[in-house]
Amino acid sequence: MLLNVNKLSVKYRARKFVEALKGVSFNVEEGEILGIVGESGSGKSTLAYSILNLLPQETEIRGEIFFEGKNIFSLSPKELKILRGKTIAMIPQEPSASFNPVLSIGYQFQEFLREAGIKDKDKISYIIKDSFKRVMLEPGERIINSYPHQLSGGQIQRVMIAMAISVKPKLLIADEPTSSLDVTIESQIVNLILQLRKELDLSIIFITHNLGLIKVLADRVVVLYRGEVKEVNSKDYLFTSPKDDYTKLLLSVYHEMDS
Ligand SMILES: Nc1ncnc2c1ncn2[C@@H]1O[C@H](COP(=O)(O)OP(=O)(O)O)[C@@H](O)[C@H]1O
Ligand SMILES: [Mg+2]
Repeated sequence: MLLNVNKLSVKYRARKFVEALKGVSFNVEEGEILGIVGESGSGKSTLAYSILNLLPQETEIRGEIFFEGKNIFSLSPKELKILRGKTIAMIPQEPSASFNPVLSIGYQFQEFLREAGIKDKDKISYIIKDSFKRVMLEPGERIINSYPHQLSGGQIQRVMIAMAISVKPKLLIADEPTSSLDVTIESQIVNLILQLRKELDLSIIFITHNLGLIKVLADRVVVLYRGEVKEVNSKDYLFTSPKDDYTKLLLSVYHEMDS
């Protein structure tokens, strides 16, 4: 077992309290793609940020998250830096928001690798070229010298994925990574993720509101509804014999749209 989330509850203390997660438990096994599906506001991103221990300071957290047996809420600052910069990589929903608009893609990639502890210039340039090749971006100078606004949404997301895999993470968390893309680009990115899982020794948490993507990608699925886990099931059983009423509802809407 790579990751174990155990009775995780998260309460935001904004103007009013929001119970974003309520007693959430599930595991991620080595090498699998775990899909997390739920509608908007069900707590998916909260879960992603919990795993990186990146929730706002004043948030009330109960329960535990173990990564390779270590509780991530009791890591030292140094261990946390390694966890976030190297061990677990995240692809966010809005990749363009993760880039600084006034710095070139290449510069930001270099900085990212330096932050992850890689200082050697030749090594940095090798890793960037190699990562670009893996995500099928031209390894030449054009994209490296571009600024974020000069790239398409699909290219930006490929750069984001290249950065995420460049540090050889054990776990990749993709939080609705295709929701800002056209469907044709979406399916290219999904195929890319499937290919990377085969090539690299990678476990993936794929977060989405889209059951169609779950069907293509996931090995197992966690269904989230209003901060609660409704069902954990293998992908095949989820689609053929769902256990929970909410899952059945989701599936009936999905089949309606599909037909
Ligand atoms: N920083 C925050 N402060 C207060 N409430 C938040 C914060 N982030 C998210 N929420 C609330 O927590 C709930 C879950 O949000 P989120 O995890 O973003 O869901 P999802 O990613 O599934 O759309 C929502 O009700 C949302 O409004
Ligand atoms: Mg979200």
